[in-house]
Amino acid sequence: MTDAVVDIRGLNKSFGSLHVLRGIDLTVSTGDVVCVIGPSGSGKSTLLRCVNLLEQPESGTVLVGGVDLTDRDCDIDAARRHIGMVFQQFNLFPHLTVLQNCTVAQVTVAKRSTSEATRIARENLVRVGLEDKVDEYPAKLSGGQQQRVAIARALSMDPNLMLFDEPTSALDPELVGEVLSVMRQLASEGMTMLVVTHEMAFAREVADRVIFMDAGAIVEEGRPAEVLGSPTEARTREFLHRVLEPTKLSTDEFLGDRAAPAGGPAMELPKIDPHGLTP
Ligand SMILES: Nc1ncnc2c1ncn2[C@@H]1O[C@H](COP(=O)(O)OP(=O)(O)OP(=O)(O)O)[C@@H](O)[C@H]1O
Ligand SMILES: [Mg+2]
Repeated sequence: MTDAVVDIRGLNKSFGSLHVLRGIDLTVSTGDVVCVIGPSGSGKSTLLRCVNLLEQPESGTVLVGGVDLTDRDCDIDAARRHIGMVFQQFNLFPHLTVLQNCTVAQVTVAKRSTSEATRIARENLVRVGLEDKVDEYPAKLSGGQQQRVAIARALSMDPNLMLFDEPTSALDPELVGEVLSVMRQLASEGMTMLVVTHEMAFAREVADRVIFMDAGAIVEEGRPAEVLGSPTEARTREFLHRVLEPTKLSTDEFLGDRAAPAGGPAMELPKIDPHGLTP
């Protein structure tokens, strides 16, 4: 027995003729934060979804907490109960209050009493800073607040592992920080986390390991300073260049004729460093 919370070996997944995951090997140890980065369509979400069997792998093994989810005798519902998942689009129940969103699975799946579920939900809503919103409906909350409810809901099931699939991608920029700060706090409390993200500053600061995926394979992995700071693979460098300097690359095409208007200097675009990585 290792202390690996997640142990994936030789994972393959296809959708029809599209081979989306190509022999993935991945371990996540207890308390580790592993960030997965990579271009759109590289298989990041599919990988995450295979970890709780929202997608059925076609070959390979997926062990979570030592339990082989790909074993046909495995009790998937029991295994899933301790895997929290947070999606890009919050996925809250719109007809339930914040508190009810955080109690419903506890009562129906974990078979807790309503009073115990309520106590646990309230604790987790305090944890994410939303104790004053317990009776609101999701539609009344900002995206950042809704995502924090989604995190509190997942935490209320006592997860051993939290999966995050681009949890801040759907948020207005000014709301990203509040969600990342809850995630940072969880990481510091020792939660094991597998996070698909484009937030490079978060990955650099919080991750124990960064994994770069491209075309269904892990191209490079290592400590954030290595993978983000001095990647060895050309594909990683190209990706980081595109992500970190998105405006610079497209400025000329974007400006077209206005790039150098007659009689004047080229239009100055504000310099943006959305990821805070410029020294
Ligand atoms: N249920 C599905 N049926 C068919 N094809 C799918 C399905 N889910 C994903 N795919 C395809 O598999 C490939 C990988 O998708 P995936 O969503 O895992 O990529 P991703 O790295 O998460 O991309 P993004 O950064 O855009 O979220 C894509 O080509 C996608 O179109
Ligand atoms: Mg995705």
